[in-house]
Amino acid sequence: MKKIDQETVRQILDTANIVEVVSDFVSLKRRGANYIGLCPFHNERTPSFSVSPARGICKCFSCGKGGSPVNFLMELEQMSFQEALRYLANKYHIEIKEREVSDEERRQENERESMWAVNDFALQHFESNLTAHPDGKAIGLAYFRERGINDAMIARFHLGYALDRSNALYEAAKAKGFDEKFLVDTGLCIRNDRGQVYDRFKGRVIYPVHSISGKVVAFGGRTLRSDKQMAKYVNSPESAIYHKSSQLYGLYQAKRAIVERGKCILVEGYMDVISMHQSGVENVVASSGTSLTEGQIRLIHRFAENVTVIYDSDAAGIKASLRGIDMLLAEGLNVKVLLLPEGDDPDSFAQHHTSSQVEDYLSANETDFIRFKTKILMDEAADDPIRRADVINDILRSISLIPDLVKRQVYIAECSRMLGINEESLGLQLSRIASKKAEDDDKRAQRRAAEESLESQPAAPVDDSRDSGFLKGYERNVLRYVVKYALCEFCEEEDGTGNLMPMTVLDYVRAEMKRDGLTFAHPVHSRIMEIVEETAATWPDIYPGILARAEEHRRRFLDKAYADMREQELNVSAINAREAQIKSEADALYRQEIDTAALDYVSRTLCSAPDDDVRRLSTELSIERYQLSKVHTKHTKVESEREALIRLVPRAISELKGAVLDVMIHRLQTRLRALPPGSTDLTVLQEIMRLTALRQEFAHFLGERTITPRKI
Ligand code: UTP
Ligand code: MN
Repeated sequence: MKKIDQETVRQILDTANIVEVVSDFVSLKRRGANYIGLCPFHNERTPSFSVSPARGICKCFSCGKGGSPVNFLMELEQMSFQEALRYLANKYHIEIKEREVSDEERRQENERESMWAVNDFALQHFESNLTAHPDGKAIGLAYFRERGINDAMIARFHLGYALDRSNALYEAAKAKGFDEKFLVDTGLCIRNDRGQVYDRFKGRVIYPVHSISGKVVAFGGRTLRSDKQMAKYVNSPESAIYHKSSQLYGLYQAKRAIVERGKCILVEGYMDVISMHQSGVENVVASSGTSLTEGQIRLIHRFAENVTVIYDSDAAGIKASLRGIDMLLAEGLNVKVLLLPEGDDPDSFAQHHTSSQVEDYLSANETDFIRFKTKILMDEAADDPIRRADVINDILRSISLIPDLVKRQVYIAECSRMLGINEESLGLQLSRIASKKAEDDDKRAQRRAAEESLESQPAAPVDDSRDSGFLKGYERNVLRYVVKYALCEFCEEEDGTGNLMPMTVLDYVRAEMKRDGLTFAHPVHSRIMEIVEETAATWPDIYPGILARAEEHRRRFLDKAYADMREQELNVSAINAREAQIKSEADALYRQEIDTAALDYVSRTLCSAPDDDVRRLSTELSIERYQLSKVHTKHTKVESEREALIRLVPRAISELKGAVLDVMIHRLQTRLRALPPGSTDLTVLQEIMRLTALRQEFAHFLGERTITPRKI
């Protein structure tokens, strides 16, 4: 397999025009500098999907989906990065040059390819057992029939049957020339101590697990015996192609429906997914019995903003999974919960009701999670005042996880009504919980740090994952200016000899971070920074071309303006005045064209990056709407963000540095507290005082440091 050559990638990204790409799927109307249309990611009647040709991106202001041309195609058509590039190359008749992959890349790729191939073979083997083998028909197919699963679902989910023999699959695969190594690596077969190889799945019905792009990465096998000694399910182990914590069962079959409905329904088991599909509700995935992982939650968020979790009405199960739901809230998803009638699970419920009954039940009974949690916990605590207090704190803890301030406030209002406690007290308690939580996180980080000695502390002050969580927001704030404005000149700095040198946002951020030995603690952030640096390094190569083009535009503008002027019969002084005006307009256009090109160059590359996390975050950062800060509201003049960079960027940097200092100070304080009572450590104490003084300096950072705005 070959990869698209880097030069071609660049050419494709530069050529792809967001308006043209989107127009193939959405009918667009011009509105000012932008275009608008009906969002293809969700159902709507009034257009909220906006396309900005200048920025090369699109965004739905209602559901938030969008991004660069590549991003748009990947999300809408569920293409891979390489597929999206090939689609664009084809659209723009760009010849694709491919690059040879390195030996190591090829070896790894080949290994994975071989594992997928053997899984594919196994899938067909299990499927044909089910439909063509006498045992499979008599046992496996009969079982699915008994459970009410129809042929369409058997085909759609590629259900199968593993014969009850010790090496039926092994023999079949060997006969087809498959290497034993890959049978073992995928976990389809097991090699015992004596070196014998035999099948993992025996006498079980088989549920294959597909990756998002439809590759078979694992299998689950259910026993048909009621023998309690026997594991109900046997599953494929983790492997180079299967990471359980970032897969969701059924996502491949469900993703289109999830995107269309803007909602993902979460159930527990294989059969729940399949029966729901059969009843026409297709936006369903299963966590496969284990508690949700962060990887799975991010996966859901890639496709939808809304999640509905379905429960059997068994109270113990509900309470156990409340924690998992808190994680969904923390990811910023809107979470609803649905209780099924007593004794039903999603599978049985879907089997015993018509499609429309299922749909109706869903829409009539799904409840907002916070409301749901409040209700069940309060019912339980009844009139016991102490337990009620615990419940209230528990609920506030959930609310404190929601990233969006406005949503938090809405919930406080709602809970105030439900609990009969006034909003102010709840709000106050909420902020207590939030700061206590931040402190606890810190303490945990510090306890670890306290075990190291001061000397052995690494030079980079932030390396701890907890701290990186605390610093995330500050880093992100700096990063968004880098992503959006890396190459924009926004200030001038004296070079020491009295000359003023223009400085770009990237120059400034790089210099400021370097000055204090700072790097981004969050891995995605540093990856983005690396790409920005790489991209910025190629800017000088294309800059002359951009100048030439702007120069050409300026000449054309002047020619036309002069021609217009000659047609009007003006006197000499009017001509002079008009000429000066034309020139200054031409200059402004010229500067603006170059500025815009610089502005787009980096963010376009980032928003089309192959790395999912990088692309996602960059897109988010570059399309989020600018929120007016407090500073702004004091002024009557509404200023563009571009003009405000002179204040915003230094402030973001100093806030980040302040936060880093906070982390360091906290760590040291914890070390002091950990000492035996009565004793102290002077070195640590002095370091704390030094850092605290620095911290105060930072608080005044903006007022003290002078940088000269650069004229735009
Ligand atoms: P359930 O026990 O609810 O099974 O486990 P189920 O899927 O509803 O199966 P039926 O209806 O009895 O046929 C829910 C999920 O937990 C995982 C499986 O993914 C299952 O679908 N699980 C359960 C295991 O991986 N291993 C087990 O032993 C049990
Ligand atoms: Mn079940």
